[in-house]
Amino acid sequence: MYTMALWKWSVIFLYVYTSFDNVYSQKKEPIDQLSIKMRFLELENEILQLKARDCGQNKELDEILRLVKTPNIAFRSALSSDIGQVTPGQIIVFDIVGLNNGNAYNQHSGIFTAPVNGTYMFSMKLGNPSGNPSAFFLVQSHGSTKQYLEYVIAGHTSEWNVGGTSTVTQMVEGESVWVEGEGSPHGKYGDHRYHTTFAGILLHLV
Ligand SMILES: *[C@@H]1O[C@H](CO)[C@@H](O)[C@H](O)[C@H]1NC(C)=O
Repeated sequence: MYTMALWKWSVIFLYVYTSFDNVYSQKKEPIDQLSIKMRFLELENEILQLKARDCGQNKELDEILRLVKTPNIAFRSALSSDIGQVTPGQIIVFDIVGLNNGNAYNQHSGIFTAPVNGTYMFSMKLGNPSGNPSAFFLVQSHGSTKQYLEYVIAGHTSEWNVGGTSTVTQMVEGESVWVEGEGSPHGKYGDHRYHTTFAGILLHLV
């Protein structure tokens, strides 16, 4: 009986001792600590890399959003009445404004000024009766120089006739587009017949 109990206690003691020793020796094991530290550093590095990638993706997303959310810049205008003889190079002031989203068209000067860098579309139309030959030039400023983008004529043949066109151009913020006239451009005829107009829209940011 006594031997039995002693044997039992010895086994328990041995078990506890070896367990404790295992834990203790693991704690002391320098190689394990090192590999845990290495693994920790690896994970930390992976997290940093993921964060950096996330940041890059956010930048891409910001750029996509910037391009997709094209500002609402658009105007439509017309000439209310005949303006008589104009001097060559005179800017035509289209005084009736049907639309001016973004307020980039100035109805007092007739000048559209690009609020952002982008690709823009413009159209102009000139309607004149016979005996009143006129011309329109669509002009863009580049600093102090002028670029003639388009040209239309009307009033050279019999009866009323209309010259009109649309075009696209790239503009840097602050550059302007306007219409210069020649001859004596006519405004409207009766109700709703606005035959002399100017319009534009921002298509794309660049
Ligand atoms: C617009 O374009 C000009 C000329 O290319 C450039 O200098 C300027 O930084 C651009 N502006 C923006 C807001 O991108």
